[in-house]
Amino acid sequence: MKKVAIIAIAFLAFACKKQEAEPFGKQEPAPSTEAPSEGMAAQSQTPEQLGEVLFNGKGTCVACHKMDTKLIGPSFKDIATIYKDKNASIISFLKGESEAIVDPAQFAVMQPNLVVTKAMSDDELKGLEAYINSALK
Ligand code: HEC
Repeated sequence: MKKVAIIAIAFLAFACKKQEAEPFGKQEPAPSTEAPSEGMAAQSQTPEQLGEVLFNGKGTCVACHKMDTKLIGPSFKDIATIYKDKNASIISFLKGESEAIVDPAQFAVMQPNLVVTKAMSDDELKGLEAYINSALK
């Protein structure tokens, strides 16, 4: 009789364990939450991804710009639309080589940022431009 009880307990314990283990085995692999980082090798990053990193990072553009809605500055959608219509270059604006065409009356608010963008490499500026233009996708 004792033997049967031991077997029963052992069986129960095994059954419980199995049940416990099952949902774990079924779990999907966690989606990668790895964001592109500033230190990432250039070749593994598209210009748009680099732009996004700069937008949120050292560019601090995120403080005033959003993709689809006006914040302190115009939305990137509005900027991309106007630059496309006028066939103008966002890069030359960010280099301080061309005038503001989106909202010139507010240019004084944007102007200090050109100190940051003027110090950026061509690749970084291309990245920002690609990121701004991605608002039109
Ligand atoms: C302190 C707020 C602020 C920050 C930070 C800022 N902007 Fe702006 N931005 C503005 C405002 C306001 C305007 C509208 C004035 C203008 O058109 O120049 C503007 C306009 C622009 C324009 C359109 C210029 C044009 O032709 O009129 C571009 C492109 C732009 N910003 C890109 C950027 C990028 C890229 C960054 C980050 C490197 C950035 N901005 C950071 C406030 C900001």
